Amino acid sequence: MTENQTLTVRDNRTGEEFEIPITDGTIRAGDLGKIGRTDDDPGLAVYDPGFTNTASTRSAVTYIDGDKGILEYRGYPIEQLAESSTFLEVAYLLIHGELPTREQHDQWVHEITFHTFVHENLKSQLQGFRYDAHPMGMLLSSVGALSTFYPEARAIRDPQVRHDQIVRLIAKMPTLGAWSFRHAQGKPYVYPDNDLSYTENFLSMLFKMSEQKYNPDPRLAKALEVLFILHADHEQNCSTNAVRSVGSSEVDPYSAVSAGIAALYGPLHGGANEAVLKMLKRIGTPDKIPAFIEGVKRGDEKLMGFGHRVYKNFDPRATIIKKAVDDVFEVTGVNPLLEIAQELERIALEDDYFISRKLYPNVDFYSGLIYEALQFPPEMFTVLFAIPRTAGWLAQWLELVDDKEQKIARPKQIYTGDRTLDFVPAAQRWA
Ligand code: SDX
Repeated sequence: MTENQTLTVRDNRTGEEFEIPITDGTIRAGDLGKIGRTDDDPGLAVYDPGFTNTASTRSAVTYIDGDKGILEYRGYPIEQLAESSTFLEVAYLLIHGELPTREQHDQWVHEITFHTFVHENLKSQLQGFRYDAHPMGMLLSSVGALSTFYPEARAIRDPQVRHDQIVRLIAKMPTLGAWSFRHAQGKPYVYPDNDLSYTENFLSMLFKMSEQKYNPDPRLAKALEVLFILHADHEQNCSTNAVRSVGSSEVDPYSAVSAGIAALYGPLHGGANEAVLKMLKRIGTPDKIPAFIEGVKRGDEKLMGFGHRVYKNFDPRATIIKKAVDDVFEVTGVNPLLEIAQELERIALEDDYFISRKLYPNVDFYSGLIYEALQFPPEMFTVLFAIPRTAGWLAQWLELVDDKEQKIARPKQIYTGDRTLDFVPAAQRWA
């Protein structure tokens, strides 16, 4: 590759040529803006719905290579972290940029463990929802409501204030998620048990009944640790983009994270794991798969849990989750939908419709099978995604706050509407 890292662009409307520098594989949209700029013309802009080929930030949190199926948090391969780390250690890594010393780790775990309680007024707010309220709607609103309990959180330039809210959010997400689950079941809310680890405590708040102390199965707690690690961050995905965009207005982190929860709720994003289970149940038996696949190829619907904007060969998280499935089924018994999922994957991976579109199983395809085997209803699956992703959203939010290049998010548009119409008052219009 030549040393000359520039583009020479010729504007054929004027014959003018421009030298545009190439930096880190990108050109700055502002440099394009110089092309064709006059007193009446703002110059060229980039039109990129869904930001399919637009970099919005520099980031050192997560690295993904979509062709090679590589995912690294702060440079550490996801396979090694899933195998040997814990979710809170990974959360520390994402937030602070390096693995903790023993002292840092113990202090971090202590702080989070002792911030798992939420204000009793929040409990009342959750109890005000209908009996059949979707847990994601409850989580979305209760996290937004947290901002009203900690008004000091608006001082986002203060490092200690930022640290305190990050600890509170990571600590309270399992509590709010578990209480949303218990609400849907009409069961009493279970308070945090500070003797338990992060995932054990989550299981206790979900499933404890009349026993004095909940005794979580270590294999299920370990499976949740792995799933939480795999879901912790994923560079500039839709919900992270929402957190960064809302955060760019300098709002508090609770409000920015509630925007991330709202984006994750959608079936094309975090809501896909819930949609996968409903799809598998609708197919029902392996013999119905060919007709279902034909429907997908006709465009009647998408094969949920397949496809990814970045991964074009395989999602490394799906590979790891497939292994975790066996560990969980050892405890819970095999989920009968596993056979349909495996047959669906086999058929899709042999079909040119999916191969030509580079559609492979993503993180959501198998995770729902584990969640259902753990007795979660499909409506809870995206909550199980939002809880660990909070660490990633906050790591990305911290980068945004400290990034001197960042400005409030305010994209351009291509205007397609009418111009300079004469207004006719209603009385005349309706006469
Ligand atoms: C997550 O970005 C992230 O990192 C997200 C995530 C994270 O950790 O944050 O990884 C988590 O959201 C995983 C994705 C979960 N979503 C699903 O499983 C829903 C089903 N998948 C699709 O909706 C889709 O694949 C997306 C949304 C994931 C990606 O969409 P893109 O990149 O915008 O691709 P596209 O919609 O332009 O699709 C390209 C082609 C189209 O066909 P043609 O118009 O060219 O004929 O592939 C088709 C699409 O119709 N296609 C599918 C399909 N996904 C894409 N066809 C059938 N089934 C699918 N699942």
